[in-house]
Amino acid sequence: MTLLHVTNLSVEFDKQLKALNNVSFKLKQGEVLGIVGESGSGKSTLARVIMRLQRPTEGSVQWKSRSVSSMNPTQLRNYRQQVQMIFQDPLDALNPRMTIAQIIGEPLRYLSPQLNRQQLQQKIACVIAAMGLSRSQLNRYPHEFSGGQCQRIGIARAMIVEPQLLVCDEPVSALDVSIQAQIINLLLELKQQQGLSMLFISHDLSIVRHLCDRVLVLYKGEIAEIADTETLYQSPKSAYTQRLLASIPLHDPVQECERIKAWAKSGDE
Ligand SMILES: Nc1ncnc2c1ncn2[C@@H]1O[C@H](COP(=O)(O)OP(=O)(O)OP(=O)(O)O)[C@@H](O)[C@H]1O
Ligand SMILES: [Mg+2]
Repeated sequence: MTLLHVTNLSVEFDKQLKALNNVSFKLKQGEVLGIVGESGSGKSTLARVIMRLQRPTEGSVQWKSRSVSSMNPTQLRNYRQQVQMIFQDPLDALNPRMTIAQIIGEPLRYLSPQLNRQQLQQKIACVIAAMGLSRSQLNRYPHEFSGGQCQRIGIARAMIVEPQLLVCDEPVSALDVSIQAQIINLLLELKQQQGLSMLFISHDLSIVRHLCDRVLVLYKGEIAEIADTETLYQSPKSAYTQRLLASIPLHDPVQECERIKAWAKSGDE
């Protein structure tokens, strides 16, 4: 089933600059789509339009065949429950004056106001356990946590409303490499165990290969290429993708595979 259908999307910030130009793609249920491209290629703009944080100049975003830009307040609330986002700087994305319990519970207070206190606490306990956090941490504040823990808290806050799509804008680029692997493995688990779909924006082509089913390459706001991950890495069609892949050491596939395995394993420790 197609969850998300982006059609001929363009975003112009001014007459000279098209941040996105005629971008179209579909995302199926359970699919993880990587979005790569150099800085300024339009990746975050695409995420913001999908989240309805930014209006497109042209084109449309459809969620389960319904246009996101023409949703009424009830439909929009529903959409906000089904599509959640996590951000690059995990500490920045958390309110410093709220406890972890308040932060994680907040989306539910807005999206499921019918829950009583006990039900709310039960849901929070359940999601923090799944994210590898402990109950004893619930009354602490964000600055008391490491970057990796803050990102787990951000993912818990997103997952508590049981979304179907997680939009991830460079969720690990601010973290140390070993912590990156832990967070990526957590996302992989969510995909495998809960069938969560993802849009995964990243600069790191090794991580994208490890996590994503398909990859969309953006170049100056346009789609340079979209293909299944292995097809794209093994026989990139566009000259831009070829240049992008050439800039990382992927020449020996066996060696690269071993490197990724070792890297993923380091995250299990
Ligand atoms: N609010 C804005 N006003 C004006 N221009 C903007 C705005 N947001 C983004 N842009 C421009 O749109 C283009 C795409 O920006 P975007 O942030 O989507 O790129 P990106 O691929 O996410 O880059 P990065 O990898 O650095 O995060 C850039 O040229 C940027 O300067
Ligand atoms: Mg960006």
